[in-house]
Amino acid sequence: MKGRKTKIISTGSYIPEMVITNADLEKMVDTSDEWISTRTGIKRRHIAKKEEAASDLAYHASIKALEKAGISARELDMIIVATITPDMLFPATACILQDKLGARRIPAFDLEAACSGFLYGISVANQFISSGTYETILVVASETLSKIIDWKDRNTCVIFADGAGAAVLRSSSDDTGGIISIYLGADGGGAELVGVPAGGSRMPASIETIKGRQHYMKMKGNELFKRAVKVMTEAVEKVLEMGNLTYKDIDFFIPHQANIRIIQAVTKRINLPMDKVYVNLHECGNMSAASIAVALDQALDEGKIKKKDKILLASFGGGLTWASMVIEW
Ligand code: ACO
Repeated sequence: MKGRKTKIISTGSYIPEMVITNADLEKMVDTSDEWISTRTGIKRRHIAKKEEAASDLAYHASIKALEKAGISARELDMIIVATITPDMLFPATACILQDKLGARRIPAFDLEAACSGFLYGISVANQFISSGTYETILVVASETLSKIIDWKDRNTCVIFADGAGAAVLRSSSDDTGGIISIYLGADGGGAELVGVPAGGSRMPASIETIKGRQHYMKMKGNELFKRAVKVMTEAVEKVLEMGNLTYKDIDFFIPHQANIRIIQAVTKRINLPMDKVYVNLHECGNMSAASIAVALDQALDEGKIKKKDKILLASFGGGLTWASMVIEW
């Protein structure tokens, strides 16, 4: 990597209290705990309150990350929020968060790369830090997917959930540790595989779009599944190569939490044992951009990541987008 080294100096996360179990879903749609558990690995998921928006979840996660870093929001030079469920179309959730945190009038913007949003956000922050433009950047991934899920559609409502994760990034003072390599990619040719059709400029809100349930997420899960395994495996191989590393150098893997079968397939292909992999989807479901951000914070809290460990992160999501990263802790 060119320029100054960037480190994640702290993380934080926030998971809403309200829980929906597979048994609850059995009462809502034609599904079963057995189907959801074996096909996805999900047992429970957390859902935001009616009045809670993405910036609220982001705020709680950010406060924790700032506290752990021992810095005030006024020390931040930039805020990036990765989300596909912003408070509203505009203004940006990042601007709303900037105000809530009491940060200075620093640049604040949203980044939309679906499940890859957190890694895309870190890579943008890394550019500003490694170039010497900024010192301290807050990257937050916050999702309230429960608000765009059709609770009558068993294809999606059993999978998605809410949560937020945050990271404070700074330049490495001693030039040890930090981000080793980053790989990003996208394929708009797969755009129709997952998304929310209405509410944008292609299909503005109307009585018809509401009646047609077009404001809810639609997903072709099976096709995404096949692509996710292939693309995530390639992304992992690529980022290892970029860092002159092999899978043997990796101490811990944090994949996007879409489906336990995707995680197992990718992990097997890169020859890692499952005890080197962090999984929280049984408890948290798929929180899109927030999944890796929350998992990273939880893994650190649980002592699973030690200083000097090499951490591999990889995601795949709507867009289609993908991202992978290796960080020395
Ligand atoms: N309960 C019971 N049966 C179900 C359910 C359910 N909740 N959902 C689907 N089924 C049925 C289907 O109707 C189908 O029935 P049929 O055979 O009679 O037609 C059968 O189960 C199999 O359906 P598939 O869609 O083929 O099931 P699959 O094994 O692929 O699992 C899943 C579906 C879990 C969605 C999986 O495909 C997956 O995880 N895909 C990846 C999703 C992903 O990675 N998304 C990332 C992007 S998300 C984002 O960016 C926001």
